[in-house]
Amino acid sequence: MRILLFILIPCTGIAAAIDILVALEQADTYTKDILMHLNISQMFFKDKYQFEAGIQRMVILPNTTQENVCSRIVDVSVIISLARSQDKIDLMRNVSVAARIPMIQFHFYPWSPPGFFKSNTSQTLLMPNNFDNYVAMVPPSAVFQYSIVDIFPQMNISTQLTVLSDDIYNVAFDSWKGSLDSLGVPVRYMQIATNPSRIRAQLNSLRNQAKTIVFVAKTENIERFLLEAQSNIENEDFEMVFAFTKDVTPFKCDDCLSAKMHWIRPYSTNTVQDIRAYQEFINKNEINLDMDYTITSSEEVDASFYYDAMNSTFVYLMKVNSTYSDISSFSCGSVPSANTTLPLANFLTTRPILEYGVTKRQDNNYFYQDVPVRIFSIDRIASNEDSKYNKLMANWTVDTGVLLYYESLTQSPREINIYRVATVVQPPFVQRFPDWENGPDFEGYCIDLMALISDTIGNMSYVLYEVEDGTFGTMDDNGNWNGLMGAVVSGSADIAVAPMSVMAERENDVDFTVPYYDLVGTSILMKKSEVEYSLFKFMKVLEWQVWVCILGAYIITALLLWVFDRFSPYSYHNNRERYKDDLEKREFSLKECLWFCMTSLTPQGGGEAPKNISGRIVAATWWLFGFIIIASYTANLAAFLTVSRLEQPISSLDDLAKQYKVEYAPMKGSASETYFRRMAEIEEQFYHIWKDMSLNESLTPRERSRLAVWDYPVSDKYTNMWRYMEESGLPDSMEDAINRVLTSKDGFAFIGDATEIRYAELTSCNLQQVGSEFSRKPYAIALQTGHPLKDDVSSAILLLLNQRRLEALKEKWWNENPKRMVCPVNTDESDGISIQNIGGVFIVILAGIVLSIVTLTCEYFYYRRATPVSKDVTTSKHPTPVVKEHQSPPISRDEEEEKEKPREGSVIHRRNNSTKNSPDPRSIPSEGNYTYENVAFQK
Ligand SMILES: *[C@@H]1O[C@H](CO)[C@@H](O)[C@H](O)[C@H]1NC(C)=O
Ligand SMILES: *[C@@H]1O[C@H](CO)[C@@H](O)[C@H](O)[C@H]1NC(C)=O
Ligand SMILES: *[C@@H]1O[C@H](CO)[C@@H](O)[C@H](O)[C@H]1NC(C)=O
Ligand SMILES: *[C@@H]1O[C@H](CO)[C@@H](O)[C@H](O)[C@H]1NC(C)=O
Ligand SMILES: *[C@@H]1O[C@H](CO)[C@@H](O)[C@H](O)[C@H]1NC(C)=O
Ligand SMILES: *[C@@H]1O[C@H](CO)[C@@H](O)[C@H](O)[C@H]1NC(C)=O
Repeated sequence: MRILLFILIPCTGIAAAIDILVALEQADTYTKDILMHLNISQMFFKDKYQFEAGIQRMVILPNTTQENVCSRIVDVSVIISLARSQDKIDLMRNVSVAARIPMIQFHFYPWSPPGFFKSNTSQTLLMPNNFDNYVAMVPPSAVFQYSIVDIFPQMNISTQLTVLSDDIYNVAFDSWKGSLDSLGVPVRYMQIATNPSRIRAQLNSLRNQAKTIVFVAKTENIERFLLEAQSNIENEDFEMVFAFTKDVTPFKCDDCLSAKMHWIRPYSTNTVQDIRAYQEFINKNEINLDMDYTITSSEEVDASFYYDAMNSTFVYLMKVNSTYSDISSFSCGSVPSANTTLPLANFLTTRPILEYGVTKRQDNNYFYQDVPVRIFSIDRIASNEDSKYNKLMANWTVDTGVLLYYESLTQSPREINIYRVATVVQPPFVQRFPDWENGPDFEGYCIDLMALISDTIGNMSYVLYEVEDGTFGTMDDNGNWNGLMGAVVSGSADIAVAPMSVMAERENDVDFTVPYYDLVGTSILMKKSEVEYSLFKFMKVLEWQVWVCILGAYIITALLLWVFDRFSPYSYHNNRERYKDDLEKREFSLKECLWFCMTSLTPQGGGEAPKNISGRIVAATWWLFGFIIIASYTANLAAFLTVSRLEQPISSLDDLAKQYKVEYAPMKGSASETYFRRMAEIEEQFYHIWKDMSLNESLTPRERSRLAVWDYPVSDKYTNMWRYMEESGLPDSMEDAINRVLTSKDGFAFIGDATEIRYAELTSCNLQQVGSEFSRKPYAIALQTGHPLKDDVSSAILLLLNQRRLEALKEKWWNENPKRMVCPVNTDESDGISIQNIGGVFIVILAGIVLSIVTLTCEYFYYRRATPVSKDVTTSKHPTPVVKEHQSPPISRDEEEEKEKPREGSVIHRRNNSTKNSPDPRSIPSEGNYTYENVAFQK
């Protein structure tokens, strides 16, 4: 502190990037590994959050004074301290407190979890009071060591422990021995031999003295050792064997016929999606090649911790930035006058559950990751190959201690006939029971099936649970599975009962029973194309502009006809005398012209054409125009009414592959994803084979020319499809997928298991299965490799198949499913035009009728007003032209009305026309009508 007062670091004044400073004590391999984790995850989060923060590295050399350290701390935002020795830790803490810099100190030394005794090697950091920006974090591998302190006392170990270790913990850094030393029994540490002859030599030396062996090593090294130790295990040379490893690869070793041991390891009870996304990022950006960085299974727990520490730092800095709209940077020696940062400790307490445990806060701003640990009991006997056991016996966390699944940890798994059955929710095979809080957790086809199998086998009980991440599981770069497969392979579950298809790479790691369901392929789910119904669809055949133009042409033509009739010297209008005896006379008044043009467009025909040639040309042009318009309209109407029913853009996978509008993808982690990824990889392999073949130097030019074709000979259909799928993004869950199918603008086709798709179709009226199934494979139950129940389950399934019990189940969960939707019957393609599309025509008729009735009413009353008293018809002076020129005898009202018609409608010519062939056209009272017209015209 005193030094600080003297040294005032001049403020450089340069606008600082957001600096995360990593302080390290020694640049040894151990520190380098951590630096690497931090550095790469920093790149990941920089990319993910688009937040410019960077690591600035600093080395604290031995014997550095605070003065020297301070000269390096200028304008930093957060310090991550990897200091390991007490004095350097103290130094860094003083720096943090003095300049109020947020600091995360990783605490690697044996640390005492809350409630645990403190061994003499364990070290507690001195935490400053009232300063919430200095926090210590204990990595999960350090927390994991403490499980042994709880587990071993339950094992009745009295003899000396022989610890065989490799470099899973850094050799230079032996704090992991702390918890073993504190067990109270003598411990001997040895380096594990890793090649067969050395192992045999080591086994010989161990045979007589070592009764209890503890492996603290990578899984591969333990497996290699056990493979050589087969005879020792059969002879029971060792009383107890433990594998105490932070390696997350489960024990598989198909060749190890004998084994009897407890396997203690961290086990993610969360999804391992984040670390997989991180790994994907590493592979995609070729960081693994460029920087020689991979996350091995023995490092996964640690890598995920540092990755998350970096996530916390980023999220914290972003939060600070958004709170203060800037990030404060600190310099050693200058104490900020006001608090310009958020308490780091409070922020860390709100962290979500991480891959390997929850971040817990101990007193004094100590944080540790409460890593979940599982204890498996592995039991194999060489004489009985079909009864291999790998049973989850207990779990452990700092908070809960050891929780047993059965009576005791030392119980032999052979005596336990309770089996753990893992499943995945996928209706209707497995679904949550509607009222699952007061009843069983699950229901469905598979649940019923498991109950039937258990009844058939008898003398077994089982515990059903859903796997943590709810997926079937995929394999990562290290060959480790997650999801359902991971549960079975690791030993957490004995059996996996779910709609799980048999696949080659799954069969490598688990055993499948006989299939219990028909072959199920992959299929495509799409939104039902929306059939657009419109009553006035016949109006939409032509665009409105065309309708307007037609109307304009109609009016203009009618006007022209009228004008021509008026002014042409040859028209009837101007030659009335000449056509006096002509039967087909027509006065082309404006009204008549409009009527003529309209009727010309109908099959009724226009009737009498004008007399003058000019008028006839106009009429002929109009007829031609009308003919073309009607013909095009008719042709288009037919197409228009059928096109929506015939439209089916995508009906198979090939259709999907050919287009780039509709996006398509399988679900992340599904079998379909594996299928497409694999097909793309196979195509690539083919390409390489072909390339190698055609570039082969030893071929003669002739042979080589036989391999060359103009086109690229290897299909790249799946390569392209897979690329497009990756670009459009894979949905994470079924809900996500269905949501995308329903809401995507350009359309989205989901590719998945045919059963999933059939169920989606069954429960939603807007979805449909498209095309036929491809890549069909059976559904079967998976068991641990060599599980004793395998044959029993297989024969139970066969029995149930024979009894047709499975068919009944199928009926129950498919056809009688309560969630089944009754959808409105689809208009089949073979059906005719529906009323929804053509109904408008009837509305037109209706409108016409209504209009005519209104007109009739108007006519009636207009006439009534014009002829006020019909009774006085004899005395009154008739105002209408009817009587003016042509005094007719008094007529009754009925007769009057009959006469009214021709007057108003001027239909006389048409009547003449239509009765042209009648023997005596004069029988029609034409004379009077002519006069009406003349009068009307003169009016
Ligand atoms: C972090 O990675 C970058 C490459 O992106 C490298 O230049 C830098 O030296 C690395 N930093 C540390 C501290 O390893
Ligand atoms: C560093 O300090 C230690 C004691 O703390 C001392 O033994 C050693 O000589 C010092 N080294 C240097 C380089 O000053
Ligand atoms: C990073 O941390 C944030 C906030 O704590 C969390 O929501 C997010 O899931 C984390 N992201 C990753 C990739 O772990
Ligand atoms: C910090 O926040 C401000 C506004 O709140 C923003 O303009 C700036 O870009 C942020 N800094 C970084 C590095 O994102
Ligand atoms: C500043 O710190 C004090 C106590 O240290 C706290 O009560 C106050 O809320 C802080 N202010 C802000 C803006 O964080
Ligand atoms: C640990 O085991 C108990 C049962 O023995 C179980 O209830 C609990 O959920 C398990 N915890 C974890 C984290 O698996």
